[in-house]
Amino acid sequence: MKILQFGGTGQVATAVRAAARDGVEIIALSRAECDLENVSQIRKVIEAADCDLVLNTAAFTQVDPAESRPDEAFAVNATAPGVMAEACAARGLPFVHLSTDAVFDGRTDRPYVETDEARPINVYGRSKLAGEQAVRAHPRTVVLRVSWVFSRYGRNYVSFMLRLARERDVLKVVADQFGTPTDGEALAAFLVATAPRWAAAPSGDPAFGLFHFANAGETSRFDFAKTAIDRDPRARAQIEPTTQAAFAEPAPRPPRSPLDTAKLREMFDFEPEPWRVAVERTADRLIASDLTV
Ligand SMILES: NC(=O)c1ccc[n+]([C@@H]2O[C@H](COP(=O)([O-])OP(=O)(O)OC[C@H]3O[C@@H](n4cnc5c(N)ncnc54)[C@H](OP(=O)(O)O)[C@@H]3O)[C@@H](O)[C@H]2O)c1
Repeated sequence: MKILQFGGTGQVATAVRAAARDGVEIIALSRAECDLENVSQIRKVIEAADCDLVLNTAAFTQVDPAESRPDEAFAVNATAPGVMAEACAARGLPFVHLSTDAVFDGRTDRPYVETDEARPINVYGRSKLAGEQAVRAHPRTVVLRVSWVFSRYGRNYVSFMLRLARERDVLKVVADQFGTPTDGEALAAFLVATAPRWAAAPSGDPAFGLFHFANAGETSRFDFAKTAIDRDPRARAQIEPTTQAAFAEPAPRPPRSPLDTAKLREMFDFEPEPWRVAVERTADRLIASDLTV
């Protein structure tokens, strides 16, 4: 089983390589090997690839900079995945792409299901939604929406908050934004384990399509951060709740965007862990390695 992976240096990309087991080879492409703003390079790479499935873990993920760099965000998050899906379809390869809860406006009284209307409220969300639509125009494609991804790899919310809690006296964390954290290592294990199923599935198989992937439960940014920080004996910051409005970031955030994973759980017989269990384990591992993993 050979997986061609766009995104070599990112958080999920690194977790996928760590999750690869016997019989699964990951051919990872960094930005230097394939720049997602270069569509002819993307086409050439897929045309020449010796692989059974293509996985895109690369994205323009900087939510605030996307507001002032929309062309770059749309090139990487919308045009590039559309070109990947088209090139995969031409070769009969399945294509798996990651998207985000940021396609929703966050005004909901229950977790979002796949059929809920996407109404993004920032450039990042609009570019990711355009990417989903470009990918889903092709057969044998999978779009997995994930939210608040954390892991031992890359710079993510858990590792960032642990670091800040060691550096600062006071750490203000947003308490009026709610969602479902996603264990990036569980996501990576799921992608690697499910790749053979997608590779064998014919066009029209229900294993293709749009799915939500996240841990079980819902929390606030504040509780998410505090759960990790409470594990660290070297944390010294006093953690104080604040509001999104007080942060005044360039990009508005959906206030509540939990993902309902029932469709994925039924289709793939997969049971996500409660978010708190996964956050505590990840924090413990990061702390044990002195936050250097
Ligand atoms: N992290 C989250 O909380 C979160 C939440 C919801 C959805 N997601 C989605 O999950 C996926 C994986 O996210 P992640 O956390 O792994 O993101 P990440 O750590 O920020 O990694 C993004 C990757 O994309 C690469 N990239 C960006 N622009 C590129 C370009 N022009 N050409 C080639 N590569 C480029 C980056 O390369 P460089 O290192 O060279 O910049 C990096 O390897 C993305 O689709 C993201 O939208 C993430």
